[in-house]
Amino acid sequence: MTEPDLFSSPDGKSPVERIRELRRQLEHHNRLYYTDATPEISDAEYDTLFRELENLEKLHPELDDPNSPTRRVGGQPIEGFSQVSHPVPMLSIDDVFELSPEAVAAQNAPRPDVELIEFYQRLRKNLGRDDIAVTIEPKIDGVAVSLLYRDGKLHYAATRGDGTTGDDITHNVRTIRSIPLDLTTTVAGASPSSALQDRPAPPPLLEIRGEIFMPNAAFAAMNAERDEQGLPTFANPRNATAGTLKQLDPKITAKRPLAFLAHGLGAYQGEPFHTEHDFHRLLDTLTIPRNQPLFNATTLDETLAAVATINRDRHDLDYATDGAVVKVLDHAERRQLGATSRAPRWAAAYKFLPEQQETTLLDITIQVGRTGVLTPVAELEPVLISGSTVSRATLHNQDEIDRKQIRIGSKVLVEKAGEIIPAIVKVTEPSANPVYSIFDHVGGKCPSCSGPISQEEGFVAWRCTNFQCPAQAVTRISHFASRKALDIDGLGETVAEALVRHGHCHTPLDLFNLDEETLANLNLGTDEAPRRFGEKNAAKVLKSLEKARSKPLNRWLFAMGIRHLGESAAKELSRLHQNLTEVVSSEILAELIRDNRAVAKKKNDLLLPFAITGDVGPAVAETIATFFASEAGKHVITRLAELAIHPASDNYLPKPAEADLTSLPLTGKTFVITGTLTQDRSAFKSLIESKGGKVTGSVSKNTDYLLAGEGGGSKRDKAEKLGVAIIGEDQLATLLG
Ligand code: IVH
Repeated sequence: MTEPDLFSSPDGKSPVERIRELRRQLEHHNRLYYTDATPEISDAEYDTLFRELENLEKLHPELDDPNSPTRRVGGQPIEGFSQVSHPVPMLSIDDVFELSPEAVAAQNAPRPDVELIEFYQRLRKNLGRDDIAVTIEPKIDGVAVSLLYRDGKLHYAATRGDGTTGDDITHNVRTIRSIPLDLTTTVAGASPSSALQDRPAPPPLLEIRGEIFMPNAAFAAMNAERDEQGLPTFANPRNATAGTLKQLDPKITAKRPLAFLAHGLGAYQGEPFHTEHDFHRLLDTLTIPRNQPLFNATTLDETLAAVATINRDRHDLDYATDGAVVKVLDHAERRQLGATSRAPRWAAAYKFLPEQQETTLLDITIQVGRTGVLTPVAELEPVLISGSTVSRATLHNQDEIDRKQIRIGSKVLVEKAGEIIPAIVKVTEPSANPVYSIFDHVGGKCPSCSGPISQEEGFVAWRCTNFQCPAQAVTRISHFASRKALDIDGLGETVAEALVRHGHCHTPLDLFNLDEETLANLNLGTDEAPRRFGEKNAAKVLKSLEKARSKPLNRWLFAMGIRHLGESAAKELSRLHQNLTEVVSSEILAELIRDNRAVAKKKNDLLLPFAITGDVGPAVAETIATFFASEAGKHVITRLAELAIHPASDNYLPKPAEADLTSLPLTGKTFVITGTLTQDRSAFKSLIESKGGKVTGSVSKNTDYLLAGEGGGSKRDKAEKLGVAIIGEDQLATLLG
């Protein structure tokens, strides 16, 4: 009698074979789901296969493969980005612009697409022929990436960087489901059961150039969800993509809806390509998703027509695009044309004008966001732009209103660019009204709760500072209950939302008035489809609330959701104070504020003995003082006393600590922030302050660095004039060490 083989699957396959088969099947279903949008199996069936593979891989660590589909959920965070030197430089494309009506008039141009015609004429001259075969495709507004496959396995993925050297982002790219990790398993048409022998082998070396992006719909959904959770939203899909690819933790990346499309070739060893079509055929065989629609043209007229079609239909694409790329089809002709150090001569990107329409600004309304920011919204006479009716546009903040001299009743030019939210470009016909003032309009009060509003130093946004503002109630209660705050088990966003909706809670401290019956009967659903919270959950919440009463001071401080008062600042405050009462009347905080306001900014001797870390700076001190002096803050103190809750420090140590202000990387450095960054400016402000730096609102000769994102016109100009160093997020990271 033979021994049963514990490692064989029931159909007699060896673990090696079964693992290979499962990997192939899972990648096949990934492709059907993520690239072709034609899934063939249910999520549950997919999960079963996935778990079987996970188990087998656990049993057979010797068969480990970094390109296994099980790695797509994200592995361990990396320490930092290593560099990849591109085997073939990643060049840029020369832009040619669609001219605006004003530019056509000013330049006396025959038509808006003259620059494109001139590009085609250069091709004619260099190739000595009139008709040149080209392809035309949309330009994807994403992040350029190089995928290098060796013998069909993803060897690395890298960003463009400076074109010669880029960042290794393999850990993040592995999580993108539409990117095949192992080309030996993904040959098109090869159903999981089809024989291995009819798979063509992938080329030994294949470097694919393409674009990673966030599909428009997925971007909108992700932003809506982030907003719900009180997290900062991204300005546009491109920023969201760039920010995501900079993550060190691939588990975060795995949760973001990134996609990939190929558009070019880098290093290559294999059957030679005669035209771009040969290359496309290889991509299709290997199931590497490529950019589409793709148009072919053999004459100038056909080329212009294809470009016009892309311009007309581009709003139906699922990615942001601001142009069309025209490329010579024949690879021998490409070689003949060559490249400058910057860009090939065989391609051009024709940049479309964003679609604009004139309409009337009927009114401006103020929305109070879930984090208390007052956002002015333009209410417009509805107008059709880029295939959708636009009746509202964002005005961002008072700075923007002032810069554009926005008055209610004016005629305005509205634009809907790649960004999902329409914007006002300029006023075309001003009304007689005064320039709109947010502060005057709301009478200095929050339109949601009539609480005080304030504009923090360094920020243009007006913000409601009322702890009890109903617009912020759900956010504040969820934050109060979150794991890192008071950790109220079972009290998430949905419950917080229901508590506020049914009038049981207005502020976080109202949670302590809840009884078991109210909680158990809480309807989380709708009137039509009610969903009871239930006794068990109610008991869980009450138990956690009981436990919260004796949680340490730093948790309580953090739970209050005071601006800038993050976890580390809360910890540092509880090191410096024994209890909440001491924080409320803190001499240390008062001193920090005085120190900051003092004209002579020398280091304050009084504070030195405390060796305060950069986590608590003047900005935090100011917001804490303002909070406890406000009605809301006083209410919190009174209510806590009534509830007999006395938060006390568990790390009180007012003596000189190890940490020394002078040793922080940004000590003594002053920053100004401008433009669109990958995160909220306040996040960067906190980061800089936590490392000993200071953030101010305007550029002066005392400014050390301007941290500049996209845009940021006037501050950038001023910094350039004053010779202030202008840095990006990467350089900030370097400064932080
Ligand atoms: S072809 C030598 N096709 O735009 C470069 N590029 O602004 C040939 N891009 O670096 C590139 N969509 O990352 C090509 N359909 C497309 C594209 C595209 C976006 C990016 C690409 C390039 C950048 C230049």
